[in-house]
Amino acid sequence: MIRSLHRVVAAPERPDSRSWEAGAIRTIEADFNRSADTHLIPVPLPATPDVHLYLKDESSHPTGSLKHRLARSLFLYALCNGWLHRESTVIEASSGSTAVSEAYFARLIGLKFVAVIPETTSPEKIAAIQFYGGRCHLVKHPQAVYGEAERLARELGGHYMDQFTYAERATDWRSNNNIAESIFAQMAQEPHPVPKWIVCSCGTGGTTATIGRYIRYRCFDTRVCATDPENSVFFDAYASGDMSLRLQNGSLIEGIGRPQVERSFMPGAIDAMLKVPDIASLAAIRYLQQVLGRRCGGSTGTNFIGALHLARQMHEDGERGSIVTILCDSGERYLRSYYDDTWLAARGMRIEPALAAVRACAEEGIPLPWTPGAAGACASPER
Ligand SMILES: Cc1ncc(COP(=O)(O)O)c(C=O)c1O
Repeated sequence: MIRSLHRVVAAPERPDSRSWEAGAIRTIEADFNRSADTHLIPVPLPATPDVHLYLKDESSHPTGSLKHRLARSLFLYALCNGWLHRESTVIEASSGSTAVSEAYFARLIGLKFVAVIPETTSPEKIAAIQFYGGRCHLVKHPQAVYGEAERLARELGGHYMDQFTYAERATDWRSNNNIAESIFAQMAQEPHPVPKWIVCSCGTGGTTATIGRYIRYRCFDTRVCATDPENSVFFDAYASGDMSLRLQNGSLIEGIGRPQVERSFMPGAIDAMLKVPDIASLAAIRYLQQVLGRRCGGSTGTNFIGALHLARQMHEDGERGSIVTILCDSGERYLRSYYDDTWLAARGMRIEPALAAVRACAEEGIPLPWTPGAAGACASPER
């Protein structure tokens, strides 16, 4: 039985760490207050006029991708958990986009930043990380980013931000201008304000989880379809339920597709998945370049193919409605890869016939030559 009050054990207080944290949080919130929301762009699909497609343009964030939202959430989450202090070095394992955005926020609050990234990461992304004062630590195997980031954090006495674990936790899925809340607000005056489908691809799985949770929380009838590129385990894990699947190689489409099922991948928040061949993704961004007059990154192509497939299905079923998908980042980061025919040819890819197939599908309704593998709500047996 406790007879007397024991002395209070206080955290090993760093001098003024609470005031530093408060200052850092205010700085991030002020940056947010200066920022505008991203746009929602209608994309015409001549072959399916009753299905309206929209792209949520996340490339217009200050750091050029959907990861800007996540990086802000991860820094606020780490600050509010007391995981950061003024001398902290932040380390992240990333395919590049998250590292660009985290380097931006680290610099904003005066912290050092180290990105552990695959050596195949586009030179443009490496330059962007360094532009924001980050240091790049390259690894040979995509699988090695996790262990190497943990090792560096121990070695440097730093903080491993670990987007793959915390993406789904750090993001406020009920509001706070998350990507889903922004989409529904921007759809409000459209002919079909509640989309039938929102199509999104998975890297951490955080964006898809946020969208799926928000839709359920608001009781919308919208379905979430997640697209998956080649050399990724998400589709097979979703279809089979086996979350222990692993692959050696990484995905060719930067930012999405993973060699293991990440902790932020929430299959319960996903209604359907589509497996999209890489050639289809890369042809789709060439088509979008012609339609939008600018370049998108590879994962946007993966999303577009998923949306096109679902639009055709709705059209065939005589359904009217809308579909929203994500323009994840700009194609200016991939000039020496996806937009370089020599780079594609070296990987056995001829873009012209695939581009013609995407155009024929979007404009004349001719089925895509690649039937995306389907699982869940869009995989009805009779098709
Ligand atoms: C370009 C790009 N697209 C899509 C994604 C997928 O986003 P999430 O990690 O939220 O699943 C990423 C993730 O890194 C990305 O970099």
